[in-house]
Formats: sequence, structure tokens, C-alpha cells
Amino acid sequence: MFRSLLGIILWYLRPLMKWFLRKTTRLCELQRLCYGEKAGAPRSLRVENSLLQSRSGDIKNLIVFLDRISDGRKFIGTNKDSITHYAIHTVLRVKKINPQIHPQFGISFAKCIEHIWGYRQLIQEVEVLRTTPYDANNESHETKLLTLWELMMPSVQLESRVTKQWQDIGFQGDDPKTDFRGMGLLGLENLLYFAQEYPGPASHVLSHSHHPQYGYAFAVVGINLTSMAYHMLKDGSAKSHVYNVSQGLPTIKVFHHFYCYLFYEFDRFWIEAKPRNVMDFSHIREKFENTIRLSLSKPASVFRINISIDNI
Ligand SMILES: *[C@@H]1O[C@H](CO)[C@@H](O)[C@H](O)[C@H]1NC(C)=O
Ligand SMILES: *[C@@H]1O[C@H](CO)[C@@H](O)[C@H](O)[C@H]1NC(C)=O
Ligand SMILES: *[C@@H]1O[C@H](CO)[C@@H](O)[C@H](O)[C@H]1NC(C)=O
Ligand SMILES: *[C@@H]1O[C@H](CO)[C@@H](O)[C@H](O)[C@H]1NC(C)=O
Repeated sequence: MFRSLLGIILWYLRPLMKWFLRKTTRLCELQRLCYGEKAGAPRSLRVENSLLQSRSGDIKNLIVFLDRISDGRKFIGTNKDSITHYAIHTVLRVKKINPQIHPQFGISFAKCIEHIWGYRQLIQEVEVLRTTPYDANNESHETKLLTLWELMMPSVQLESRVTKQWQDIGFQGDDPKTDFRGMGLLGLENLLYFAQEYPGPASHVLSHSHHPQYGYAFAVVGINLTSMAYHMLKDGSAKSHVYNVSQGLPTIKVFHHFYCYLFYEFDRFWIEAKPRNVMDFSHIREKFENTIRLSLSKPASVFRINISIDNI
């Protein structure tokens, strides 16, 4: 009761407090955040919040514009630079900030814009891959699949394209194409990135998946973790991590890297849980997901990727 009353009072007091702080510090809220918060997730998350709560019509229009640009995946290259200039200019005008006196503000604010709308754009990019079905008649898809085999099983030759050998890297039948349902090409790209960029950890995880007691289907579980990474990206939970590791625009590599982290950590979590059999998967997966979501909810303690050969 007391808390909700306080909430209502704060809501009404917010403009007054902002006005008061502006008068005493001579800085608007966005400036205070850009100067006072640590670069990365702590700053970008609060700037995002502040922009979304803005009651200014010009800022609201700016947000609609930036949403449209990033949904159309146009927030790139020289386009990106002119769009961030426009965003800075709008805020300087609305908040009556003199760029001569506050040159640092525009630089810090531009980074936040890149994080916030680059993330939105990344969701679109990932969505395109997810909705592209694996196509066995497409040479580029087939090459990727065969490369995955070569990287995971460097010493074993694939006898034919359709073979039970695929089960050695955790596909279900004799043709992996059916296992990509649901996550499309995204599942394959994730696995391939893991094998390519982290060969050590990937083969370590593969060997765990062959454990006589705690073994599991490597590729099938990997594709399932693609869906976990995808949902965390889509619902915004991954923002704290993505904002924190991206210097500028978050790229697809950041998503792949996040996935590698999940796969590597899930494997450890699974082994430590000492599952009785694969029927425990749903349960352990859920506990794992809760652990990850908890770490992601704390912008100040954004998790460090703990892969020894971390190269991002
Ligand atoms: C094969 O797949 C790639 C990537 O999804 C796509 O760009 C290309 O157009 C496809 N080629 C054919 C012939 O469908
Ligand atoms: C992943 O596994 C969970 C738990 O078994 C299941 O509910 C979910 O549908 C799976 N998702 C995909 C895309 O395979
Ligand atoms: C990630 O977050 C932590 C905690 O806020 C911070 O110390 C670190 O500098 C951040 N890393 C980057 C690359 O921004
Ligand atoms: C990272 O991994 C090492 C070795 O597995 C472990 O000792 C360390 O505690 C881990 N660090 C974190 C932050 O999880």
C-alpha cells in the first residue's frame, strides 16, 4: 500500500524532480546519465528508459523514426552516421544543450543510440536467419553443414551425405536437415560459429556429450539452445550483456558469441547436475535458463564470458 502510494507520488513528482535537478546541476537527465553512468549496459539501459519515458513530442517522433529505420535494417554505414547525427541534434535542440559547452555529451549519447537501435536491428537480422528453412538443395547450406562435420570430426571422413554417422555429433537420424526445423538456418550458423571460433571448447563439449552416463545429443541440444538465445534476445533480456560487450553497433557476432557462452555453460551445468537420463533435460534446461536470466537482470554484474580462448 505504502509502496504503491509512493510510486504514484514519484510519478507526479518526476517532472518536478527533473526540473529541480536541471536547475541545480544545470544538466538534463540524459546528460546526467551520460556523464554519471558507466559506459555499456549501465548507461545505455538508463538512457533507453529515459527516452521511452519522455513526454516531448519531438523525442517521441524521433523514437518512431529510429524504430522504423532499425526494423528495416537501414541503420548501417553512412546512413547510420547521418541518423545518429540527427538524433543528437534533436536532443540538443529539445533539451537546449549547447554542444560547444558539452562536446562529450553527443559522443556518449551517440554510443547509446547505436546500442539501443542496433539491438533492435540485430533482432531483425537474427529473425531472417531463423525463418530461413534449411534447404538441402542450396549449395551454401550444404557446404555449411559439411564444414560443421569437418570441424567437429576432423579425423573421420563422412561416408555419404545421408548416413547414421551424423548421430556421432548429435543429430537424430541419418539426415540433419530435419533437425533444423523451428530454428532454421540460425541453428546451423550458431553451431558452425561455435565450432569455427571456439574449436577447443566445442570439442570439449562434444566429448562430454559422449559421456557414458551423462551423454546427450550435441547438435539437438545445441539447436535447442539456439532457441533459448533467440528468445532472450527477442524479449530484451540479453540487452544488458549485448550493450556491455558492444563497442558500437551490436553485430550478429555478438549473438553467436552469446550462444557459444550459453552452450559452454549449459554443458557444465548439465554435468554438474548429474542427470539420471535425458528425460531430465526439460527440468535442467529450465533451471539453467533461470540462472542466466537472473545474471542478465543485473546490469551492474553483467556476466563475463568464461571461455578460456575468448577472442571477441
Ligand atoms: C542459398 O542460401 C543463401 C543463404 O540463405 C541465399 O542467400 C541464396 O539465395 C540461396 N540460393 C539459392 C539458389 O536458393
Ligand atoms: C527445447 O527444449 C524444451 C524442453 O524440452 C522444449 O520445451 C522446447 O520446445 C525445445 N525447443 C526447441 C526449439 O527445440
Ligand atoms: C561490463 O560491465 C561491467 C560492470 O558494469 C563493467 O565494469 C565493464 O567495464 C563493462 N564492460 C564493457 C566492455 O563495457
Ligand atoms: C571461469 O572458469 C574457471 C575454470 O573453469 C573457474 O575457475 C572460474 O571460477 C570461472 N569464473 C567465473 C566468473 O565463472
